[in-house]
Amino acid sequence: MLKIKLGMVGGGKDAFIGEVHRMAARLDNRYELVAGALSSNAKRAAQSALEIGIDKRRSYSSYKEMAAKEGKLKSGIDAVAIVTPNHLHADVAKEFLKAGIHIICDKPLTSSLQDAEELAALVKSSGLVFAVTYNYSGYPMVRQAKEMIADGLLGNVRVVQLEYAQDWLATNIEQKGQKQAVWRTDPKQAGRGGAIGDIGTHAFHLAEFITGLRANSLLADLDCFVGARTLDDNANILLHYKNGAKGMLWVSQIASGKENRLQIRIYGDKGGLEWAQEDPNYLHFMPLGESKRLITRSGSGAGPLANAASRIPSGHPEGFIEGFANIYRETADLIEAHRENREYKNLVPDVDDGLRGMRFVDKAVTSNQAGAIWQSLDH
Ligand SMILES: NC(=O)c1ccc[n+]([C@@H]2O[C@H](COP(=O)([O-])OP(=O)(O)OC[C@H]3O[C@@H](n4cnc5c(N)ncnc54)[C@H](O)[C@@H]3O)[C@@H](O)[C@H]2O)c1
Repeated sequence: MLKIKLGMVGGGKDAFIGEVHRMAARLDNRYELVAGALSSNAKRAAQSALEIGIDKRRSYSSYKEMAAKEGKLKSGIDAVAIVTPNHLHADVAKEFLKAGIHIICDKPLTSSLQDAEELAALVKSSGLVFAVTYNYSGYPMVRQAKEMIADGLLGNVRVVQLEYAQDWLATNIEQKGQKQAVWRTDPKQAGRGGAIGDIGTHAFHLAEFITGLRANSLLADLDCFVGARTLDDNANILLHYKNGAKGMLWVSQIASGKENRLQIRIYGDKGGLEWAQEDPNYLHFMPLGESKRLITRSGSGAGPLANAASRIPSGHPEGFIEGFANIYRETADLIEAHRENREYKNLVPDVDDGLRGMRFVDKAVTSNQAGAIWQSLDH
């Protein structure tokens, strides 16, 4: 297998998620990071490239220049990871698609629904691989839950309870210049959604991924509790799924004491499942009328989908980086299949999943503005 030559846009010094993408790409030895436009600041971009060992001839001060040059190089990059603030995702992606380069883009897909729709159409006409790093879908016990529901162990799903709670935006840290807070609370960079775009999209995707159900409408009550903020920092959202199941999602970035509490609880007419990201190696299974069971990653109750996503024996915790790396590994499989002109599909979230996330954000804001009125998620 040829290594995939990877580029990165964003992810310079002091950035958060770019470093995680680099670790995820290294874990299975399928990628080689060879180019980057790592920062909006040219000096910082060059410095960051030097520190992570990118050849200075392939460190660019602009992503447009990088896409154009890498697209023409004989051994230019095969794929690019987009890890900038949200408002740049669409434009960066378009430049690289034009150059025939596969994309690994972080969520939310874009900063507006219109950009997302345009981008999705472009991706489809390009035929290139486009992965969205809804990384929580890469956890083994999430895959286990998906498999158990597909196998009918929960029966007909009736209730989906979701929560994604953090506390890091409980005070006005954006006014003190905290880098990640500044752009996340600015509608020009984040988009119409605050917490719902930043973390709500993860939870929304996770529920559809695990249950295999599509949400067809929502009702949202959004709050903006802190200071002069204009974007939501707390939200209560009701969801209706196509099979009649009812969902409830609480998203918060002001919940004191909550660090990264992504949690999902699903109840069907034959049983229930519960999983929490802060304790990711365990899945609780409650078959109706029987004693409760604890399924452990790589343990005796784990099935083939979970085992394929596990790396080390049970009892040795795996977490965020490994889950992220599963998305990278499976994206490498997609790129490999593309190289060989082979039809292939796996569980990697794609541009349609990204588009659904943007529709979720857009409709939640519209619902809230209309006084908490149900909105369709079908169009
Ligand atoms: N999947 C996840 O769990 C997860 C977690 C965190 C962030 N994210 C997403 O990743 C993206 C980045 O978030 P972050 O927290 O790392 O942000 P960040 O502010 O820490 O980093 C953003 C980086 O983008 C760079 N950048 C800005 N404009 C640029 C330009 N024109 N050209 C090149 N680089 C540019 C900045 O210099 C910085 O290096 C966001 O879309 C966010 O929603 C996803």
